[in-house]
Amino acid sequence: MSPQPDAARMGSAPQHEQADLPALANREGVLTDLSRVITDAWASFDVPRSSEPQLSDALAARLEAPLPEEAGDAEEALEDAARILDASVSPSRPLFLGYIGSTGLEIGVLASALLATYDVNLATSAGGADLVEQQTLRWLAEFVGFPLAEGAFTSGGMTSNLTALLAARERALPGSRAQGLDGRRAAVYCSEEAHHSVVRAVEVCGLGSGAVRRIPIDSRRRMRPEALDEALSSDISAGVVPVAVVATAGTTLTGAVDPLSAIADVCTRHGAWLHVDGAYGLPGAAAPSTASLFAGLERADSATVDAHKWLGVQKSCSAVLMREAGRLQAAFGHEEQYMPHDGDVANPVDRTLEYSRPFRSLRLWMAFRVHGAVQYRAWIERALANARHFTDLLRATPEFELLHDPMLSIVCFRHAPPGVDNLDSHNIRLAREMQRDGRVFLAPASVDDRACLRACFVNFRTTFEEVEHVLEVAQEIGHSLSRG
Ligand SMILES: Cc1ncc(COP(=O)(O)O)c(C=O)c1O
Repeated sequence: MSPQPDAARMGSAPQHEQADLPALANREGVLTDLSRVITDAWASFDVPRSSEPQLSDALAARLEAPLPEEAGDAEEALEDAARILDASVSPSRPLFLGYIGSTGLEIGVLASALLATYDVNLATSAGGADLVEQQTLRWLAEFVGFPLAEGAFTSGGMTSNLTALLAARERALPGSRAQGLDGRRAAVYCSEEAHHSVVRAVEVCGLGSGAVRRIPIDSRRRMRPEALDEALSSDISAGVVPVAVVATAGTTLTGAVDPLSAIADVCTRHGAWLHVDGAYGLPGAAAPSTASLFAGLERADSATVDAHKWLGVQKSCSAVLMREAGRLQAAFGHEEQYMPHDGDVANPVDRTLEYSRPFRSLRLWMAFRVHGAVQYRAWIERALANARHFTDLLRATPEFELLHDPMLSIVCFRHAPPGVDNLDSHNIRLAREMQRDGRVFLAPASVDDRACLRACFVNFRTTFEEVEHVLEVAQEIGHSLSRG
């Protein structure tokens, strides 16, 4: 049992009379401190650092301490938090290339502070914040070229995909919200390399992961539309209802963009809902050099795009975009005594899976306002150019192997110096060793059962020189491993 507050120490007054107002004693002072911590962090994100700092022993010991009963000092807590974060992996650093990070635009930090300050809840109508969310959805849809009727900001690509699939399920199997599948069989189609969130979403929809049809990919790692066509035909003739086809616009492993137009043709032929999972890659639709890869997006029923990935704002900030108005209401609308409707006007919660919902869109709204679409397009092009530059370097360096032809900004490669027998274990060790070294953050991955390194270029800060440095560091550490 945890110790109770010491009665003697609390004095004889009833506890509620000892409740001070919860304001910080020195509001302006802590804001000044915070501003210094943030500007130091921003400066440290401008250029790569040579190693990752470790926590001091004293601070590590404080992280083992029990629940504080007594009030503490805000400035000290802030200092500790800043040191802990400085020693944590941050995707905002220019050479964080592992997983799909985010630039962490400064304006998103300001928006985050503001949205936390006002703590608006978008479960119910929140006045101006609703208008900002709607405008941001329109801007985002215009930016990527999606014919938006409605949408919502969600906690991430996982939730956006789930939201779209729940709406698709209700269209394919009307009444399934209330009655479940009621003996009906259903399926969802996606490529072999679709993100696992699709499988999770299918499970949460109550279809069972056995309902996922993994469609084979072509030599560029894209879903094969003719295989999709066959899978749909065979399911439909067996009485299985297609709930949705999930095309990926930028796969997580290699950045492949499924052929959206051809997939849209197949969906139209079979009357299936087309969802485009562009959590990572959809901003590529706004970049002139890759826009043509996304042709057909305008025919999708729904799409996911994560602003907390390639659009550079902080987590979490994802959007689900819908082509037809009313689909979200059909999937999520409801009437509760504690949340009455104003006539027939829906509450924002009638369009979302979440109840309490923060004002996430403010980050992207501020970023679009302050930087504008032109700057954003240039940044996205820069990430694409970084990936192409890196690819050229790999092709020109015989001891590296490129494992696929990159379509967007993800590059999987491996170090294959002469004399190394087990390239899989060599490359896994190389990834771990590079993370320990701290100059470049790369994560291991596996392409066709070949262990490799995966570089995801989404950070707008990364320069060509830094891209070159990645290969130098990989080569240096790779050699020391292969010789040691
Ligand atoms: C294609 C794709 N879909 C969905 C997700 C899940 O997104 P989140 O982590 O925002 O939930 C990811 C994450 O990397 C992704 O790459």
